[in-house]
Amino acid sequence: MSLKSWWSNLLSSTPSAAELTDAALDSATGGALIQIEQLSKLYQEGEVRRTVFKEIDLTFQPGEFVVLLGNSGSGKSTLLNLISGIDRPSSGIIRINGVAITELDERSRTLLRRDQIGFVFQFFNLIPTLTVLENVTLPQELAGVSFHTAEKAALSLLTQVDLADRAYTFPDKLSGGQQQRVAIARALAHDPQLVLADEPTGNLDEETGQKVLKILLNLTRSAGKTLIMATHNPDIARSADRVLRVQEGDLVPVVMD
Ligand SMILES: Nc1ncnc2c1ncn2[C@@H]1O[C@H](COP(=O)(O)OP(=O)(O)O)[C@@H](O)[C@H]1O
Ligand SMILES: [Mg+2]
Repeated sequence: MSLKSWWSNLLSSTPSAAELTDAALDSATGGALIQIEQLSKLYQEGEVRRTVFKEIDLTFQPGEFVVLLGNSGSGKSTLLNLISGIDRPSSGIIRINGVAITELDERSRTLLRRDQIGFVFQFFNLIPTLTVLENVTLPQELAGVSFHTAEKAALSLLTQVDLADRAYTFPDKLSGGQQQRVAIARALAHDPQLVLADEPTGNLDEETGQKVLKILLNLTRSAGKTLIMATHNPDIARSADRVLRVQEGDLVPVVMD
């Protein structure tokens, strides 16, 4: 579903979202998929205030593959969670296709994430009591897609990640690399425009990580999706359109050699 039709469905079904229309909808996207304006994120722990981001401005274009580098604890996961609406900023605005997600209530953010964003985690996060196929169909079913339609999309993606023959297996019977391929299928099954990946190879050996990454890159590139990936791996960074380093509350462009 396009963001436009998603949005009109939401407006017709959710009065609280309709009230937010003026604040949340902005036509001046300048072609960007994501616009971040004056974004700040602070954590207060007792007496200590930690600034993870301080007034950052940033845009991501449709179809871009952007790598986020940065030391552990620099804020890579925080940025991905802010973009997906899992986390909320202390101040500032994030727009996705002109929709200011930072103005939306939790329910609307959940709907937007469910329909428009695919997330790949470091630790796969598959549900152990569901089969591989059920793990991939679940997000679509939650979004109201019929099982038949969800199953078709899931089987097609499982074929693309070379795991069609394991559809009825449980995740604990699979290797780490296979589990991450299932997680990639799950992230892409609802055909999101935006894919966020948080150290997706961080829990895999190097060779497996490279293979998994190649699959993720091929599937997102061929479909013109935007991919934002946090990683420590410089080889991955070299294949990106753009590399940003998260450091000291800011995002700094990096030129790879
Ligand atoms: N829920 C939280 N409460 C307090 N501090 C947090 C919380 N989540 C993250 N942080 C802090 O924010 C900083 C950035 O964390 P994170 O985004 O996880 O870094 P990275 O993903 O780059 O390793 C760290 O200093 C971390 O301790
Ligand atoms: Mg992290």
